[in-house]
Amino acid sequence: MKKTLLFLSLAVIGTGSVLAADPAKINWSKLPATNIPMFYPGQSSYEWLRSDEHKNAAKEVKRGDSCRSCHDEEDAEKDLGNKLVKANRLEPMPVAGKSGYKDLKVQAAYDAKNLYLRYQWKTDNAHAGTEHQYLRFDGKEWKVWGFPKLDKIVQDRQMQGIYEDRMSIMIDDGKVPGFAKQGCWLTCHDGQRDMPKQFTKAEVAANPMLTAIKKGDVRKYLPDSRTDPSDWKTGKTVEELAKLKAAGYFVDLIQWRAHRSTSVNMADDGYVLEWRLGDAGKDMFSGNSDKATHAPKYMWDAKKVGYKSITVDQLYNGDHFLVREKNAVPFDPNAGWKEGDMVPDYIVSREDAKGSAADNNAVGTWKDGMWTVVMTRPLGLTNDDDKNLKAGSVYNVGFAIHDDNITTRGHQVSFEKTLGIGVKKGTKVDINATKLP
Ligand code: HEC
Repeated sequence: MKKTLLFLSLAVIGTGSVLAADPAKINWSKLPATNIPMFYPGQSSYEWLRSDEHKNAAKEVKRGDSCRSCHDEEDAEKDLGNKLVKANRLEPMPVAGKSGYKDLKVQAAYDAKNLYLRYQWKTDNAHAGTEHQYLRFDGKEWKVWGFPKLDKIVQDRQMQGIYEDRMSIMIDDGKVPGFAKQGCWLTCHDGQRDMPKQFTKAEVAANPMLTAIKKGDVRKYLPDSRTDPSDWKTGKTVEELAKLKAAGYFVDLIQWRAHRSTSVNMADDGYVLEWRLGDAGKDMFSGNSDKATHAPKYMWDAKKVGYKSITVDQLYNGDHFLVREKNAVPFDPNAGWKEGDMVPDYIVSREDAKGSAADNNAVGTWKDGMWTVVMTRPLGLTNDDDKNLKAGSVYNVGFAIHDDNITTRGHQVSFEKTLGIGVKKGTKVDINATKLP
Protein backbone atom coordinates (compact mmCIF):
# COMPACT_ATOMS: atom_id res chain seq x y z
CA MET A 1 0.00 0.00 0.00
CA LYS A 2 2.69 2.41 1.02
CA LYS A 3 4.68 1.50 -2.06
CA THR A 4 1.77 2.29 -4.36
CA LEU A 5 1.28 5.68 -2.75
CA LEU A 6 4.94 6.57 -3.15
CA PHE A 7 4.84 5.50 -6.78
CA LEU A 8 1.77 7.63 -7.42
CA SER A 9 3.18 10.77 -5.89
CA LEU A 10 6.42 10.36 -7.83
CA ALA A 11 4.44 10.03 -11.02
CA VAL A 12 2.71 13.32 -10.23
CA ILE A 13 6.02 15.10 -9.62
CA GLY A 14 7.55 13.51 -12.70
CA THR A 15 4.98 14.91 -15.12
CA GLY A 16 5.08 18.36 -13.52
CA SER A 17 1.33 18.63 -13.50
CA VAL A 18 -1.23 15.93 -13.94
CA LEU A 19 -3.82 18.46 -15.05
CA ALA A 20 -2.25 19.70 -18.27
CA ALA A 21 -2.07 17.64 -21.46
CA ASP A 22 1.01 17.43 -23.64
CA PRO A 23 -0.31 19.06 -26.85
CA ALA A 24 1.83 16.71 -28.94
CA LYS A 25 0.04 13.73 -27.41
CA ILE A 26 -3.51 14.93 -27.92
CA ASN A 27 -5.22 12.64 -30.41
CA TRP A 28 -6.35 15.37 -32.79
CA SER A 29 -7.65 12.92 -35.37
CA LYS A 30 -10.47 12.12 -32.91
CA LEU A 31 -11.51 15.76 -32.42
CA PRO A 32 -13.90 17.76 -34.59
CA ALA A 33 -12.46 20.25 -37.08
CA THR A 34 -13.96 23.45 -38.41
CA ASN A 35 -12.99 24.99 -41.72
CA ILE A 36 -12.60 28.75 -41.43
CA PRO A 37 -12.58 30.57 -44.78
CA MET A 38 -9.77 33.15 -44.84
CA PHE A 39 -9.61 35.97 -47.35
CA TYR A 40 -7.40 38.86 -48.34
CA PRO A 41 -9.10 42.07 -47.11
CA GLY A 42 -7.05 44.73 -48.91
CA GLN A 43 -7.61 48.15 -47.39
CA SER A 44 -11.19 47.53 -46.25
CA SER A 45 -10.81 49.70 -43.17
CA TYR A 46 -13.33 50.65 -40.48
CA GLU A 47 -13.65 53.97 -42.31
CA TRP A 48 -14.10 52.49 -45.80
CA LEU A 49 -16.80 50.13 -44.54
CA ARG A 50 -18.74 53.14 -43.25
CA SER A 51 -18.29 55.18 -46.42
CA ASP A 52 -20.53 55.44 -49.50
CA GLU A 53 -17.89 53.41 -51.37
CA HIS A 54 -19.25 50.39 -49.48
CA LYS A 55 -22.39 50.65 -51.54
CA ASN A 56 -25.72 50.27 -49.78
CA ALA A 57 -23.96 49.04 -46.65
CA ALA A 58 -22.54 52.13 -44.89
CA LYS A 59 -25.69 52.77 -42.86
CA GLU A 60 -25.97 49.12 -41.83
CA VAL A 61 -22.30 48.86 -40.81
CA LYS A 62 -22.57 52.08 -38.78
CA ARG A 63 -25.66 50.67 -37.13
CA GLY A 64 -23.60 47.62 -36.13
CA ASP A 65 -24.96 44.93 -38.47
CA SER A 66 -22.69 41.93 -38.79
CA CYS A 67 -20.55 41.46 -41.89
CA ARG A 68 -21.97 38.00 -42.38
CA SER A 69 -25.57 39.28 -42.34
CA CYS A 70 -24.90 40.40 -45.95
CA HIS A 71 -21.75 38.54 -46.98
CA ASP A 72 -23.41 35.20 -46.46
CA GLU A 73 -23.38 33.63 -49.92
CA GLU A 74 -21.53 30.39 -50.36
CA ASP A 75 -17.95 31.23 -51.29
CA ALA A 76 -18.39 34.87 -50.15
CA GLU A 77 -14.88 34.85 -48.70
CA LYS A 78 -13.36 33.20 -51.77
CA ASP A 79 -14.94 35.76 -54.09
CA LEU A 80 -13.92 38.71 -51.89
CA GLY A 81 -10.34 37.51 -51.42
CA ASN A 82 -9.68 36.56 -55.02
CA LYS A 83 -10.88 39.97 -56.16
CA LEU A 84 -9.22 42.05 -53.43
CA VAL A 85 -5.78 40.46 -53.76
CA LYS A 86 -5.41 41.87 -57.28
CA ALA A 87 -5.16 45.56 -58.17
CA ASN A 88 -8.51 47.16 -57.28
CA ARG A 89 -9.94 50.13 -55.43
CA LEU A 90 -8.94 48.50 -52.11
CA GLU A 91 -5.49 47.28 -53.19
CA PRO A 92 -3.09 49.88 -54.59
CA MET A 93 0.02 47.65 -54.23
CA PRO A 94 -0.86 44.05 -55.14
CA VAL A 95 1.69 41.38 -54.31
CA ALA A 96 2.41 39.23 -57.36
CA GLY A 97 1.33 35.62 -56.99
CA LYS A 98 -0.27 36.01 -53.58
CA SER A 99 -3.30 33.84 -52.88
CA GLY A 100 -6.51 35.69 -52.05
CA TYR A 101 -8.03 32.80 -50.15
CA LYS A 102 -7.01 30.07 -47.72
CA ASP A 103 -8.79 27.30 -45.86
CA LEU A 104 -7.88 27.30 -42.20
CA LYS A 105 -8.64 24.12 -40.29
CA VAL A 106 -9.20 24.79 -36.59
CA GLN A 107 -9.54 22.24 -33.80
CA ALA A 108 -9.90 23.07 -30.13
CA ALA A 109 -9.55 21.15 -26.89
CA TYR A 110 -9.18 22.00 -23.22
CA ASP A 111 -8.43 20.49 -19.85
CA ALA A 112 -8.36 21.90 -16.33
CA LYS A 113 -5.35 24.08 -17.16
CA ASN A 114 -5.29 25.09 -20.79
CA LEU A 115 -7.08 25.77 -24.02
CA TYR A 116 -5.37 24.08 -27.01
CA LEU A 117 -5.95 25.48 -30.48
CA ARG A 118 -4.69 23.53 -33.45
CA TYR A 119 -4.44 25.23 -36.83
CA GLN A 120 -3.58 23.83 -40.25
CA TRP A 121 -3.18 25.75 -43.51
CA LYS A 122 -1.32 25.44 -46.77
CA THR A 123 1.48 27.88 -47.49
CA ASP A 124 1.99 29.62 -50.83
CA ASN A 125 5.65 28.58 -50.83
CA ALA A 126 7.18 25.10 -51.00
CA HIS A 127 9.24 25.86 -47.90
CA ALA A 128 8.53 26.93 -44.32
CA GLY A 129 8.32 30.71 -43.81
CA THR A 130 10.66 30.70 -40.83
CA GLU A 131 13.08 33.38 -42.04
CA HIS A 132 12.88 36.85 -40.56
CA GLN A 133 14.82 40.02 -41.17
CA TYR A 134 18.61 39.98 -40.99
CA LEU A 135 21.50 42.31 -40.30
CA ARG A 136 23.86 42.18 -43.27
CA PHE A 137 27.42 43.44 -43.41
CA ASP A 138 27.99 45.52 -46.54
CA GLY A 139 31.77 45.73 -46.10
CA LYS A 140 31.54 48.77 -43.82
CA GLU A 141 28.34 48.65 -41.82
CA TRP A 142 25.57 46.33 -40.68
CA LYS A 143 22.22 47.13 -42.25
CA VAL A 144 18.77 45.53 -42.07
CA TRP A 145 18.29 43.04 -44.93
CA GLY A 146 14.87 41.82 -46.05
CA PHE A 147 11.56 43.63 -45.76
CA PRO A 148 7.91 42.63 -45.96
CA LYS A 149 6.40 42.35 -49.43
CA LEU A 150 4.08 45.36 -49.12
CA ASP A 151 7.08 47.65 -48.62
CA LYS A 152 7.87 49.86 -51.58
CA ILE A 153 11.51 48.82 -51.60
CA VAL A 154 10.48 45.18 -52.15
CA GLN A 155 7.81 46.04 -54.70
CA ASP A 156 10.43 48.07 -56.60
CA ARG A 157 12.68 44.96 -56.54
CA GLN A 158 15.41 46.83 -54.71
CA MET A 159 15.22 44.39 -51.81
CA GLN A 160 14.29 40.83 -51.09
CA GLY A 161 11.01 40.07 -49.29
CA ILE A 162 11.82 38.43 -45.96
CA TYR A 163 9.37 38.19 -43.08
CA GLU A 164 8.20 35.37 -40.80
CA ASP A 165 4.86 33.56 -41.29
CA ARG A 166 2.28 34.12 -38.55
CA MET A 167 -0.95 32.69 -37.18
CA SER A 168 -2.99 35.11 -35.05
CA ILE A 169 -6.20 35.03 -33.07
CA MET A 170 -8.07 37.98 -31.55
CA ILE A 171 -10.36 37.16 -28.63
CA ASP A 172 -13.21 39.20 -27.18
CA ASP A 173 -15.21 38.13 -24.14
CA GLY A 174 -18.21 40.30 -25.03
CA LYS A 175 -16.80 43.43 -23.41
CA VAL A 176 -15.95 45.10 -26.71
CA PRO A 177 -19.24 46.23 -28.25
CA GLY A 178 -19.35 45.45 -31.95
CA PHE A 179 -16.62 42.82 -32.05
CA ALA A 180 -19.16 39.98 -32.09
CA LYS A 181 -20.60 41.34 -35.32
CA GLN A 182 -17.71 43.03 -37.10
CA GLY A 183 -14.67 41.23 -35.67
CA CYS A 184 -11.18 42.43 -36.55
CA TRP A 185 -12.55 45.28 -38.69
CA LEU A 186 -13.09 47.25 -35.47
CA THR A 187 -9.31 47.45 -35.14
CA CYS A 188 -8.35 48.22 -38.73
CA HIS A 189 -8.23 51.92 -39.59
CA ASP A 190 -7.09 54.48 -42.11
CA GLY A 191 -3.84 56.08 -41.01
CA GLN A 192 -2.21 52.80 -39.90
CA ARG A 193 0.88 51.31 -41.57
CA ASP A 194 0.11 50.31 -45.19
CA MET A 195 -3.39 51.78 -44.97
CA PRO A 196 -4.85 54.79 -46.81
CA LYS A 197 -3.80 58.20 -45.45
CA GLN A 198 -0.91 56.54 -43.64
CA PHE A 199 0.43 58.60 -40.72
CA THR A 200 3.50 60.77 -41.15
CA LYS A 201 6.30 60.89 -38.59
CA ALA A 202 5.51 64.55 -37.95
CA GLU A 203 1.84 63.79 -37.28
CA VAL A 204 2.77 61.07 -34.83
CA ALA A 205 5.32 63.29 -33.07
CA ALA A 206 2.64 65.97 -32.66
CA ASN A 207 0.01 63.56 -31.35
CA PRO A 208 -0.67 63.87 -27.60
CA MET A 209 -1.83 60.27 -27.04
CA LEU A 210 0.93 58.56 -29.04
CA THR A 211 3.61 60.67 -27.39
CA ALA A 212 2.06 59.92 -23.98
CA ILE A 213 2.30 56.16 -24.65
CA LYS A 214 5.71 56.60 -26.37
CA LYS A 215 4.81 55.10 -29.76
CA GLY A 216 6.31 56.12 -33.08
CA ASP A 217 3.60 54.90 -35.46
CA VAL A 218 -0.10 54.04 -35.72
CA ARG A 219 -1.25 50.46 -35.23
CA LYS A 220 -4.50 48.59 -34.64
CA TYR A 221 -6.85 50.34 -32.23
CA LEU A 222 -10.38 49.90 -30.92
CA PRO A 223 -13.00 52.60 -31.67
CA ASP A 224 -13.56 53.79 -28.09
CA SER A 225 -9.87 54.60 -27.61
CA ARG A 226 -10.56 57.69 -29.76
CA THR A 227 -13.06 60.53 -29.28
CA ASP A 228 -13.73 60.09 -33.02
CA PRO A 229 -13.26 56.39 -33.85
CA SER A 230 -12.60 57.25 -37.51
CA ASP A 231 -9.74 59.61 -36.72
CA TRP A 232 -6.65 58.02 -35.19
CA LYS A 233 -5.42 61.45 -34.10
CA THR A 234 -8.19 61.85 -31.50
CA GLY A 235 -6.78 59.55 -28.82
CA LYS A 236 -8.23 59.72 -25.33
CA THR A 237 -6.15 60.53 -22.27
CA VAL A 238 -4.02 57.90 -20.57
CA GLU A 239 -6.42 58.03 -17.58
CA GLU A 240 -9.46 57.39 -19.78
CA LEU A 241 -7.67 54.54 -21.56
CA ALA A 242 -6.76 52.96 -18.21
CA LYS A 243 -10.43 53.03 -17.24
CA LEU A 244 -11.45 51.32 -20.48
CA LYS A 245 -8.81 48.64 -19.94
CA ALA A 246 -9.90 48.05 -16.35
CA ALA A 247 -13.46 47.58 -17.63
CA GLY A 248 -12.22 44.85 -20.01
CA TYR A 249 -12.49 47.02 -23.12
CA PHE A 250 -9.67 45.33 -25.07
CA VAL A 251 -9.21 42.27 -27.26
CA ASP A 252 -6.57 39.66 -26.58
CA LEU A 253 -4.21 39.11 -29.51
CA ILE A 254 -2.09 35.95 -29.58
CA GLN A 255 0.40 35.62 -32.40
CA TRP A 256 2.37 32.52 -33.27
CA ARG A 257 5.46 33.64 -35.13
CA ALA A 258 7.34 31.21 -37.37
CA HIS A 259 10.68 32.77 -36.40
CA ARG A 260 10.46 34.91 -33.29
CA SER A 261 8.27 32.68 -31.09
CA THR A 262 8.18 29.16 -32.48
CA SER A 263 11.97 28.94 -32.12
CA VAL A 264 11.35 28.69 -28.37
CA ASN A 265 7.99 26.87 -28.64
CA MET A 266 5.93 29.91 -27.67
CA ALA A 267 3.31 32.27 -29.07
CA ASP A 268 3.42 35.90 -28.07
CA ASP A 269 0.75 37.56 -25.93
CA GLY A 270 -0.60 41.00 -26.70
CA TYR A 271 -3.80 42.99 -26.78
CA VAL A 272 -5.43 45.77 -28.74
CA LEU A 273 -6.83 48.90 -27.16
CA GLU A 274 -5.30 52.23 -28.18
CA TRP A 275 -2.47 50.42 -30.03
CA ARG A 276 -1.33 46.86 -30.73
CA LEU A 277 0.28 46.43 -27.34
CA GLY A 278 2.38 43.68 -25.77
CA ASP A 279 1.35 42.29 -22.40
CA ALA A 280 3.27 43.32 -19.29
CA GLY A 281 6.66 41.70 -18.74
CA LYS A 282 9.00 40.75 -21.55
CA ASP A 283 8.48 39.14 -24.97
CA MET A 284 10.46 36.13 -26.12
CA PHE A 285 12.20 38.20 -28.80
CA SER A 286 14.28 41.39 -28.84
CA GLY A 287 16.09 43.41 -31.46
CA ASN A 288 19.63 42.18 -32.15
CA SER A 289 20.96 45.46 -33.48
CA ASP A 290 23.12 47.56 -31.17
CA LYS A 291 21.48 51.01 -30.87
CA ALA A 292 24.74 52.92 -31.25
CA THR A 293 26.76 50.85 -33.78
CA HIS A 294 23.93 48.95 -35.56
CA ALA A 295 26.19 45.89 -35.40
CA PRO A 296 24.64 42.69 -34.04
CA LYS A 297 24.62 42.10 -30.28
CA TYR A 298 24.76 38.33 -30.75
CA MET A 299 25.98 35.98 -33.45
CA TRP A 300 25.72 32.22 -33.84
CA ASP A 301 28.00 30.08 -31.72
CA ALA A 302 30.16 28.38 -34.38
CA LYS A 303 31.13 25.71 -31.85
CA LYS A 304 27.51 24.65 -31.63
CA VAL A 305 26.08 25.23 -35.11
CA GLY A 306 29.18 25.28 -37.32
CA TYR A 307 28.88 28.89 -38.51
CA LYS A 308 28.75 32.39 -37.04
CA SER A 309 26.67 33.88 -39.85
CA ILE A 310 25.03 32.87 -43.12
CA THR A 311 24.80 34.32 -46.63
CA VAL A 312 21.77 35.02 -48.77
CA ASP A 313 22.05 31.80 -50.78
CA GLN A 314 21.44 29.79 -47.61
CA LEU A 315 17.99 31.24 -46.97
CA TYR A 316 14.93 28.98 -46.95
CA ASN A 317 16.97 25.93 -46.29
CA GLY A 318 16.44 24.94 -42.67
CA ASP A 319 15.67 27.19 -39.72
CA HIS A 320 17.98 30.08 -38.90
CA PHE A 321 16.94 30.83 -35.37
CA LEU A 322 19.27 32.69 -33.03
CA VAL A 323 18.34 31.57 -29.53
CA ARG A 324 20.30 33.15 -26.70
CA GLU A 325 20.43 30.16 -24.37
CA LYS A 326 20.90 27.61 -27.17
CA ASN A 327 23.16 28.70 -30.01
CA ALA A 328 24.25 32.34 -29.54
CA VAL A 329 27.38 34.07 -28.28
CA PRO A 330 28.09 37.80 -27.92
CA PHE A 331 29.02 39.44 -31.21
CA ASP A 332 32.73 39.65 -31.93
CA PRO A 333 33.50 42.73 -34.07
CA ASN A 334 36.92 41.28 -34.93
CA ALA A 335 35.77 37.94 -36.30
CA GLY A 336 36.83 38.72 -39.88
CA TRP A 337 33.45 39.83 -41.27
CA LYS A 338 33.05 39.82 -45.02
CA GLU A 339 30.59 41.63 -47.26
CA GLY A 340 27.34 39.63 -47.42
CA ASP A 341 27.59 38.02 -43.98
CA MET A 342 24.18 37.89 -42.33
CA VAL A 343 23.07 37.50 -38.71
CA PRO A 344 19.41 37.49 -37.57
CA ASP A 345 17.96 40.90 -36.71
CA TYR A 346 16.22 39.36 -33.70
CA ILE A 347 17.48 37.34 -30.76
CA VAL A 348 14.99 34.95 -29.18
CA SER A 349 14.97 33.66 -25.62
CA ARG A 350 12.50 31.67 -23.58
CA GLU A 351 14.51 32.42 -20.45
CA ASP A 352 14.17 36.16 -20.99
CA ALA A 353 10.40 36.00 -21.58
CA LYS A 354 8.63 37.11 -18.40
CA GLY A 355 5.30 37.98 -16.87
CA SER A 356 2.01 38.21 -18.68
CA ALA A 357 3.82 38.43 -22.04
CA ALA A 358 5.06 34.87 -21.54
CA ASP A 359 1.71 33.13 -20.97
CA ASN A 360 1.31 31.32 -24.28
CA ASN A 361 3.11 28.29 -25.64
CA ALA A 362 2.97 26.90 -29.17
CA VAL A 363 4.48 24.22 -31.33
CA GLY A 364 4.68 24.67 -35.10
CA THR A 365 5.68 22.09 -37.70
CA TRP A 366 5.78 22.52 -41.46
CA LYS A 367 5.46 19.48 -43.68
CA ASP A 368 4.47 18.92 -47.32
CA GLY A 369 3.37 22.53 -47.84
CA MET A 370 1.34 22.82 -44.66
CA TRP A 371 1.80 24.41 -41.27
CA THR A 372 0.40 22.63 -38.23
CA VAL A 373 0.43 24.88 -35.18
CA VAL A 374 -0.86 24.09 -31.70
CA MET A 375 -1.24 27.05 -29.36
CA THR A 376 -1.52 26.42 -25.64
CA ARG A 377 -3.25 29.18 -23.71
CA PRO A 378 -3.77 28.88 -19.92
CA LEU A 379 -7.35 29.14 -18.69
CA GLY A 380 -8.18 31.38 -15.76
CA LEU A 381 -5.54 34.08 -16.27
CA THR A 382 -6.23 37.05 -14.02
CA ASN A 383 -3.73 39.53 -15.51
CA ASP A 384 -5.24 42.88 -16.40
CA ASP A 385 -4.10 42.50 -20.02
CA ASP A 386 -5.54 39.02 -20.64
CA LYS A 387 -9.00 37.66 -21.28
CA ASN A 388 -9.75 35.21 -18.50
CA LEU A 389 -10.80 32.15 -20.52
CA LYS A 390 -13.16 29.75 -18.73
CA ALA A 391 -14.75 26.43 -19.52
CA GLY A 392 -18.43 26.79 -20.39
CA SER A 393 -18.01 30.24 -21.99
CA VAL A 394 -18.28 31.53 -25.54
CA TYR A 395 -15.85 34.04 -27.05
CA ASN A 396 -15.91 36.14 -30.21
CA VAL A 397 -12.79 35.54 -32.25
CA GLY A 398 -11.12 36.55 -35.49
CA PHE A 399 -8.22 34.77 -37.21
CA ALA A 400 -5.37 35.97 -39.43
CA ILE A 401 -2.69 34.18 -41.44
CA HIS A 402 0.41 36.00 -42.63
CA ASP A 403 1.97 33.92 -45.38
CA ASP A 404 4.91 34.50 -47.71
CA ASN A 405 7.07 37.28 -46.30
CA ILE A 406 4.52 39.88 -45.42
CA THR A 407 3.08 41.85 -42.51
CA THR A 408 0.37 44.44 -41.73
CA ARG A 409 -2.74 44.05 -43.94
CA GLY A 410 -1.04 41.54 -46.25
CA HIS A 411 -2.86 38.70 -44.53
CA GLN A 412 -5.83 36.45 -45.03
CA VAL A 413 -8.48 37.02 -42.36
CA SER A 414 -11.77 35.55 -41.21
CA PHE A 415 -15.11 37.17 -40.68
CA GLU A 416 -16.30 37.19 -37.06
CA LYS A 417 -16.46 33.68 -35.47
CA THR A 418 -17.38 32.19 -32.11
CA LEU A 419 -15.29 29.87 -29.99
CA GLY A 420 -16.91 27.92 -27.18
CA ILE A 421 -14.95 26.14 -24.48
CA GLY A 422 -16.88 22.98 -23.79
CA VAL A 423 -20.28 24.59 -24.24
CA LYS A 424 -23.43 22.46 -24.04
CA LYS A 425 -24.67 20.60 -27.07
CA GLY A 426 -27.10 22.78 -28.98
CA THR A 427 -25.27 26.05 -28.23
CA LYS A 428 -24.52 27.57 -31.62
CA VAL A 429 -20.79 28.22 -31.99
CA ASP A 430 -18.41 27.99 -34.93
CA ILE A 431 -15.79 26.09 -32.91
CA ASN A 432 -16.36 24.21 -29.67
CA ALA A 433 -13.34 23.07 -27.66
CA THR A 434 -13.65 19.44 -26.59
CA LYS A 435 -12.86 18.46 -23.01
CA LEU A 436 -9.87 16.13 -22.93
CA PRO A 437 -10.23 12.91 -20.96
C1 HEC B 1 -25.94 45.74 -45.47
C2 HEC B 1 -25.14 44.70 -46.09
C3 HEC B 1 -23.66 44.69 -45.84
C4 HEC B 1 -23.00 44.66 -44.64
C5 HEC B 1 -23.59 44.67 -43.25
C6 HEC B 1 -21.60 44.56 -44.97
N1 HEC B 1 -21.41 44.59 -46.32
FE1 HEC B 1 -19.65 44.57 -47.30
N2 HEC B 1 -20.58 44.83 -49.06
C7 HEC B 1 -21.94 44.81 -49.22
C8 HEC B 1 -22.24 44.99 -50.64
C9 HEC B 1 -23.64 45.02 -51.25
C10 HEC B 1 -20.99 45.10 -51.29
C11 HEC B 1 -20.75 45.31 -52.77
C12 HEC B 1 -20.82 46.78 -53.01
C13 HEC B 1 -19.91 47.27 -54.05
O1 HEC B 1 -19.52 46.51 -54.92
O2 HEC B 1 -19.57 48.44 -53.97
C14 HEC B 1 -19.98 45.00 -50.26
C15 HEC B 1 -18.64 45.08 -50.52
C16 HEC B 1 -17.65 44.81 -49.58
C17 HEC B 1 -16.25 44.79 -49.85
C18 HEC B 1 -15.60 45.13 -51.16
C19 HEC B 1 -15.68 44.04 -52.13
C20 HEC B 1 -15.34 44.48 -53.50
O3 HEC B 1 -15.71 43.72 -54.39
O4 HEC B 1 -14.74 45.53 -53.71
C21 HEC B 1 -15.63 44.43 -48.68
C22 HEC B 1 -14.15 44.24 -48.46
C23 HEC B 1 -16.66 44.27 -47.69
N3 HEC B 1 -17.87 44.53 -48.27
C24 HEC B 1 -16.41 43.93 -46.38
C25 HEC B 1 -17.38 43.97 -45.38
C26 HEC B 1 -17.10 43.80 -43.98
C27 HEC B 1 -15.74 43.49 -43.41
C28 HEC B 1 -18.26 43.99 -43.32
C29 HEC B 1 -18.47 43.98 -41.81
C30 HEC B 1 -17.80 45.02 -41.07
C31 HEC B 1 -19.27 44.26 -44.30
N4 HEC B 1 -18.71 44.25 -45.56
C32 HEC B 1 -20.59 44.47 -44.01
C33 HEC B 1 -22.90 44.66 -48.25
C34 HEC B 1 -22.64 44.64 -46.88
